[in-house]
This record gives sequence, C-alpha cells and structure tokens, in this order.
Amino acid sequence: MEDKTINSISNLTQPSTKERSQSVLEIWGRNPLQGNVKISGAKNSALVLMAGSLLCPKDCRLRNVPSLVDISRMSQILTSLGVKLTKNGDVLDIDARDINPTAAPYDIVSQLRASFFAVGPLLARFGTVKIPLPGGCDIGARPVKLHIQGLQAMGASVLIESGIVHADVKGSNRRLQGAKIYLDYPSVGATETLLMAATLAEGETTIENAAQEPEIVDLANFCIAMGAKIYGAGTNKITIVGVDRLHSVDYAVIPDRIEAGTFLVAGAITHSEITVSSAIADHLVPVIAKLEAIGCRIINEGENCLRLIPGELKATDIETLPYPGFPTDMQAQFMALLCFSEGNSVISETVFENRLRHVAELQRMGANIRLKGNHALIQGVPFLSGAPVMSTDLRASAALILAGLAAQGKTIVRGLHHLDRGYEDIENKLRKLGARIERVTESN
Ligand code: UD1
Repeated sequence: MEDKTINSISNLTQPSTKERSQSVLEIWGRNPLQGNVKISGAKNSALVLMAGSLLCPKDCRLRNVPSLVDISRMSQILTSLGVKLTKNGDVLDIDARDINPTAAPYDIVSQLRASFFAVGPLLARFGTVKIPLPGGCDIGARPVKLHIQGLQAMGASVLIESGIVHADVKGSNRRLQGAKIYLDYPSVGATETLLMAATLAEGETTIENAAQEPEIVDLANFCIAMGAKIYGAGTNKITIVGVDRLHSVDYAVIPDRIEAGTFLVAGAITHSEITVSSAIADHLVPVIAKLEAIGCRIINEGENCLRLIPGELKATDIETLPYPGFPTDMQAQFMALLCFSEGNSVISETVFENRLRHVAELQRMGANIRLKGNHALIQGVPFLSGAPVMSTDLRASAALILAGLAAQGKTIVRGLHHLDRGYEDIENKLRKLGARIERVTESN
C-alpha cells in the first residue's frame, strides 16, 4: 500500500464517514461461530501514544495502530497543530518537529475527549498550551479537574475562559517542576496527562493513587523507549524523573483488551468454541474470571492466543471498578450475556454515571432487566427476539450486536457512528467466524 499523508478524517475511513453513519447492521441470530479472530491494536493506547508523540521533536513510528474514526479525529487534531502524519497500513509515522501548541480546534476536541490528552505533552514541551475543554459525552459529564489540578501542582498557571484552557509555565526556562501528586480518584486520563507532562519536567514527580490500566503501562513503555525515566507504571504509585529531551522511537501498540473481551463474549453468547489471537491474558484477568463464573472455560494456548470453550450460562454479579477491577468498557457486553444466563444477576456501574442506557434497547429485544440507580437487575430468559435497536454509546453498540448474534430472527443495529469509533472491521471479523451480519445503507 502507498504511503499517504493524512489531511482529513476521510483518509482513514472507508467508506466515507457519512455513508457509514447512515448505515445499519443487519444481524440474523443463532448462527454458531467457529475459527479464529485476530485482535487489533488498542484504541485507547494508540490515542494516548499519538498525544505522547507531541513530547518528541524527532520522528516517531507507531505500529499496530487500528483504523478507527477516533484515530482519524486524533490525526486531525495533530495535523491542525502542524504535525505531519503518514499512515501506511497499521504503521503511523509522526513528525511533530514544528508545531503550534495553541492551535487545537474546538470542533474536533469536542468530538474526541482523548484529544484533551495533548494538554500535558504540549505544556511540558513548550511551556504554554491552549486547548478547548472537551465537555461531556454519551456516558457522563467526564470532568478534567484532576488533570488540571495535577498540572497546577507542577507549576502551571491555568485559566479557563470561554471554554478554552490556557495553561502557562512562568520562569525563564518555562519548565514544569516535579511535584508530589495524589489523585482523588485513579483516573486513567489524568494519570496519562500527568505522566506525559512529568517526563520533561525539572526534577522528580510522583503520582499516588495512579490508574493501573495496561494502557498506562503501554504509555510509560513508549515514553521510556523515547528516553523518559519512569518507574512503577502499572502500580498505584508512579515515579517520573524528568529528562531534558526525548528521542525518536519505533513502538508497537498493545492489543485491544476490550475488543478481545468482546469477541470472547461473542463465543460465550452463541455457545461457540472460538480462538482469539493477539490477546494478552494478563490484561483480561477480570473478564476471564467472570466468563468462568458464568460457565465458560478459557484456555491459554500460548503466544497471546485464548480459546473460549462455551458452557451452560449461569448468573453472576459484576461491579465495574478501576483496573484491575472489572472494566466499565466491558459492562454492556456482559449485560447482553447475562440476559441469557440462568438466574438473577446484578450489574453495578460505579465508574460512569450514565452508562446503562443500553438497558432499554435490550428490553426491546425481550430482556428482563430492572434498573435501580446505577444497578441493573437481570433475570435470565431463554431467548431474546431480534428487533430494531439504537446504539447509545460505543460499548453499548457492541452489546447490541452480541445480543443480535444470539437472538431469534433479525436485529437491526442503528447509530453505528458509535461503533465505528472503536471497533476495527467488526462485521468482517464476525462474518469470518460464521456470523450472518451485513452493513447496509438504509433508504429514507
Ligand atoms: C478512559 C478510557 C475509557 C474508559 C475509562 C475508564 C481512553 C481514551 N478512554 O477514559 O474508555 O472507560 O478510562 O476505564 O483511554 N473523573 C473525574 N475528574 C477527572 C477525571 C475523571 O471526576 O478529572 C471521573 C470521570 O468522570 C469518571 C471516572 O473519573 O467518572 C473515570 O474516568 P477516567 O478514568 O478519567 O476515564 P477516561 O480517561 O476519561
């Protein structure tokens, strides 16, 4: 494939984003799956590594970058800052030599919260940054207070005016200062922002009650590969000793644990034995534990390959928590599975305040679910019926596809702009496993 420089979102999405967002998925349920599916690079890692590349005034090469709308949006943000990007398959070359740290446009930042992660690297490298506040999203308000408080602790003055964050570091060298930071909550984004900012700060920074997600470890490894000094990533205390500059890097993004978990649930919900390759079992400990509690077996076949052996599905309770707790990004998919599991289950969503909107869509298919605050009480039923349903957020769209794979008859999933943000080629991957699933454009 030829190299291509990225100028716009459409360069990375085929067919065009508009066509895709008007399309729907038609799924005919109850087809058994078989075979192997290969997992793509992790969306959430790739996004933050792209932001992290702003730390470096030399060439960065990222491998295993998935083709997703969110990646295209992040590419647009970087391009608007002056970064030169070239994508060749899943390899993304990033040249952030000559960039303007104040040029991030509101319309894209507002569509992609992760683009706010640019605040830390830009401030660390240039001593100044201007970036729009990201605002809320489909699953909750998602404030950035912890990011900002941490940057202030490192010596930044931050002013929020007309929805724009202006941050500056005073002093002759405009350099952030190492600090002791305690996060009130182990926020993934705040940990990432502050970790990146601290790589170029003067002195030592510690982040206590840090997030421990695999994507944090991936970011730390990426920064270490550029010459950063970071210790303890993956634990709740991260220490960063600032360095003067970072150098070029060639780095492969970890596999997407949420995509891997979603396919394991696809096997479980259709009672199918499948293998999932490029999946790291250590990143999936809570997901595997819950699949086993529900009645499936997971066999580690080595070389990052997991085999799902289906079983009779039974109820279990799930509470979402920061890593290594059960991931909120797998909550909706497990709800679809528990709709078919014999007995009564409770799912408690503790991470985001508005992440149970798929309940109404699953009910439309015949699921027996009651909502009480942030708890969903699920009574397993013998079958669901295919129905037209609407995606309410990214992971909800995956849950509706999973429900459709196991339901009787035809399910139509609308609102695919959510799905296309985060699942690379999902319908082709499912079709290769034997699912009857088609993307069609609906005529009005
Ligand atoms: C990241 C992931 C997202 C995942 C989430 C939790 C990316 C691009 N996204 O999102 O897929 O669902 O982690 O695993 O990596 N909070 C505050 N104040 C703050 C920051 C966060 O109150 O300053 C709250 C949020 O509103 C939310 C909770 O903390 O209720 C968790 O958010 P956080 O861990 O920051 O998630 P993100 O980094 O936004």
